[in-house]
Amino acid sequence: MSDQHAQKQAAAKAALRYIEDDMILGVGTGSTVNCLIELLPQLRLAGAVASSQVTEDKLRALGIEVVDLNFAGTLDLYIDGADEVNAHLQLIKGGGGALTREKIVAAASKQFICMVDDSKMVDVLGRAFPVPIEVLPQARSYVARQLAQLGGEPVYREDFVTDYGNVILDTYDLDVSDPIALEQQLNNIVGVVCNGIFAANQADILLKAGNDGVKTILH
Ligand code: 5RP
Repeated sequence: MSDQHAQKQAAAKAALRYIEDDMILGVGTGSTVNCLIELLPQLRLAGAVASSQVTEDKLRALGIEVVDLNFAGTLDLYIDGADEVNAHLQLIKGGGGALTREKIVAAASKQFICMVDDSKMVDVLGRAFPVPIEVLPQARSYVARQLAQLGGEPVYREDFVTDYGNVILDTYDLDVSDPIALEQQLNNIVGVVCNGIFAANQADILLKAGNDGVKTILH
């Protein structure tokens, strides 16, 4: 398995064995999750909770019933991809801009399975990939100044509006050596809706696809 897309497909296939009949499945967002969505029609799901409008549209197009999280109760399982993963299965997410809805569905689920190809593994989060931060539009400049005070370099994601009508500041150079502490600190900035560090609620299982197949790593 050398090609990245084939690795994503392999990770998605490996996730299937965790999905049970008649489940309402939490479904993430991104190209890895798209590989999983393609496989879902062969299962007998009761429905799915989508982590973005894009995912919702894809699920509906395949005839899968999309359930509002408010009517689904606690989900047994949420499956999603990530932009970066460390050895503690803490993540950076939000490359696709769906971080807030993803974090909500992950929080409302008993188990979170993350599927990645090898390229997503890092020693320290945030050195190569910026931390996406969803911000209320009116607070954009204020939040950017607060991020700069923390040593970050926020870059406004041009021509992008989240599902909730907010903007994203992709923030480089933050010190993410203590991901749980930074996740909380960023949440405390007024105007921040959510940030892309998934550390307080990290993945429970990582399906990591590489040239030598898919490895399962438990938290
Ligand atoms: C979207 C995300 C995605 O999970 C993340 O960007 C990974 O995407 P891909 O599977 O396309 O590499 O967080 O907001």
